Amino acid sequence: MRLLVTGGAGFIGANFVHATVRERPDVEVTVIDALTYAGSRESLAPVADRIRLVAGDITDAELVDRLVAEADAVVHFAAETHVDNALADPAPFVHSNVVGTFTVLEAVRRHGVRLHHVSTDEVYGDLPLDSPQRFTERTPYNPSSPYSATKAGADMLVRAWVRSYGVRATISNCSNNYGPYQHVEKFIPRQITNVLTGRRPKLYGSGANVRDWIHVDDHNRAVWRILTDGRIGRTYLIGADGERSNLSVLRTILRLMGRDPDDFDHVADRAGHDLRYAIDPSALRDELGWRPCHTDFEAGLRATIEWYRENESWWRPLKDAVEARYQERGQ
Ligand code: NAD
Ligand code: DAU
Repeated sequence: MRLLVTGGAGFIGANFVHATVRERPDVEVTVIDALTYAGSRESLAPVADRIRLVAGDITDAELVDRLVAEADAVVHFAAETHVDNALADPAPFVHSNVVGTFTVLEAVRRHGVRLHHVSTDEVYGDLPLDSPQRFTERTPYNPSSPYSATKAGADMLVRAWVRSYGVRATISNCSNNYGPYQHVEKFIPRQITNVLTGRRPKLYGSGANVRDWIHVDDHNRAVWRILTDGRIGRTYLIGADGERSNLSVLRTILRLMGRDPDDFDHVADRAGHDLRYAIDPSALRDELGWRPCHTDFEAGLRATIEWYRENESWWRPLKDAVEARYQERGQ
């Protein structure tokens, strides 16, 4: 199979490419990535001689058309992904997430190529803190931030291209990922690298907000299941029953790193901060038999901390600039 991976130099995409090269030697991987601040060649360095990396923007219709024409399937990860950045400047989110997805859709339509579109649970908005409710494929879209609104827009384009043009596409909406190669702007790597650089971790508001954590490898295994056996036109929710408050995740990180559990700062809350995400993944489990392998969150977190300890050269050059930007925003 010739596989085109958009955004393969970012966090989830790079882990996806690593796993694909490791576990599926019959797959020829081409990555298209604009190598924005969030993507890096270094994330693909361990597999550099096994893949083709094309530096380019997914809104470049000519380039995307050429690469899609050479592929049997496309897995579409490329996007602007950080909510705080979207609040500060939404324009790149409309560009990459909406126009970019439109460009990919037009190319797969022209060439009859199978597409899997990677999306987020944030399109469903948020849930009350103390309720048994979880998101399902039938939950109405209700995005809160410019990031989630543009991802929702992209999902709607995919649905319309399936129905109107018969494009062979599936969609997945996953919860919060953690693992190696995640940018230090994101919650878990930010706190780990704050400790490693002698800074105090930073918690938005009271830390009561809940996220549903899944290891990136479990997400990517689900993407492969859907790409292989998913029903065209169908949306699959991916989650691993990993609900935890931000405060409890932060305290676990501090404990695992040998720090006092109260050794952190409360900082300005995020505007419009979603309270709680929670995924009901039963359709994916029942229909495609997917199960998460990383069911011990603390063990996954310990391994992730170890990865950041051992790979300082990957994240260190980014750290000071990220913290300077947060400081400007009072976070
Ligand atoms: P990331 O920010 O780490 O990586 C995104 C990658 O896309 C980067 O390599 C960047 O250079 C590339 N990119 C951005 N705009 C581009 C453009 N116009 N053209 C080409 N490349 C471009 O993001 P991530 O966390 O790896 O997320 C990947 C996908 O998964 C996104 O679609 C995101 O919405 C979705 N998702 C993420 C999570 C999560 O917890 N991180 C959860 C569910 C879904
Ligand atoms: O749910 C899936 C989504 O998860 C993905 O679609 C997004 O691309 C991804 O960034 C993530 O979004 P979140 O906004 O949930 O992730 P983030 O890592 O930015 O923050 C997680 C929680 O931690 C959130 O409630 C905000 C809080 N937070 C974040 C940072 C960076 C803090 O308390 N302190 C921080 O320093």
